[in-house]
Amino acid sequence: MRDLAPDFPITEEVNYLNTASIGLVPLPVKEYYLEFESRLAGGGTLTLDEETEDLVYESLRGAASRLLGCSPDSVAVFNSVSEALNAVAWGLGVEEGRLVSTALEFPSVTYPLLRMAEVRRGVEAHLVQPEGWRLPTESILQAINEDTKAVFITHVENLTGQLNDLKAITRRAHRVGAKVVVDGVQATGCIPVDVGELGVDAYVSGSYKYLCGPFGAAFAYLSPRLLEELEPLYVGWRTSENMWGLEPTHIQYPGNASRFEYSTSAYGVKLALAKSIEYLLELGVGRIHRHTQGLVRALEEELQSLGGLEQVTPPSRGSIYSFQPKALSPSELAKALKALNRPVELSLRRGLVRLSPHIYNTEEDVAQAAQAVGRLLP
Ligand SMILES: Cc1ncc(COP(=O)(O)O)c(C=O)c1O
Repeated sequence: MRDLAPDFPITEEVNYLNTASIGLVPLPVKEYYLEFESRLAGGGTLTLDEETEDLVYESLRGAASRLLGCSPDSVAVFNSVSEALNAVAWGLGVEEGRLVSTALEFPSVTYPLLRMAEVRRGVEAHLVQPEGWRLPTESILQAINEDTKAVFITHVENLTGQLNDLKAITRRAHRVGAKVVVDGVQATGCIPVDVGELGVDAYVSGSYKYLCGPFGAAFAYLSPRLLEELEPLYVGWRTSENMWGLEPTHIQYPGNASRFEYSTSAYGVKLALAKSIEYLLELGVGRIHRHTQGLVRALEEELQSLGGLEQVTPPSRGSIYSFQPKALSPSELAKALKALNRPVELSLRRGLVRLSPHIYNTEEDVAQAAQAVGRLLP
């Protein structure tokens, strides 16, 4: 990985190991974004004419399709991962049967299912229980029965970094006619993703983690088969084949996934996310994967050799390394790491210390963090 420090100036001062929470935006993307917002605020339609506004989501659809290995027609633009997951969950129109997820997921993955089970009598939200911090693929497969209508799961678990076996889950789900909806926000940008090869029905991701974009943009791959069945939950003036026709008496739905887009939004963020995806594609996601996997492996080796902590992250993982110190509270450890001369920026999640490197991290970062942990552990 070439030296990216000039694009991420804060890394000179801070050992930033917190991409699973918020990723850093590369300087060229940040400048482009601020410039766009400034021109729009000062120029209104002089900056954003009707034709430009019509096509404003196209660049993100294009970039996301290259990232996921699908057609731009299969990509819909949203404002957040939670919004996209809700659009898919409610759009499936499930009135009865089982919806499967796990008790380790980020709440935005399970809440739409819990909510659906609250308001639709025939719907059961079944959450697979982990064994400790692990989710055995076998437990997930066993939960998918003949009653199952959909499985909602993350590609990479946000707490532990576990990489789920989406192919096996999809094979089982499709055998019983269930859909597979994936939250890939902890995977895209640091793991190569080919949605066709995975075979999933929907794959959602968002801007502000490993895709290095600002807050307020997300997208969903919707397979051609799913697109035929999925009902748009919200509609608005952009839900139209000809949006500037502004025809209020009937809806002329677009033939592609853009029928799930319905309004204006923070356009600058969508354009900026397209730019940051291009930035990552230029570096090469395969290359980023090797780099980040190397950093996680180095974290594992150096921290394991210290003793005094319990590793939670399994061997098959994304760019996340989580652990629990044995004889020190996680919050004390985190506080001390953040108080160093070159602070280590990290997250505490449900009693876990979570480190999550990305393109701007180096082996020196890993060594510094591990040495500091070593000095602090009793
Ligand atoms: C797995 C996962 N999904 C969704 C989100 C939240 O996404 P958003 O804020 O775009 O709704 C997070 C944030 O940490 C996450 O880890």
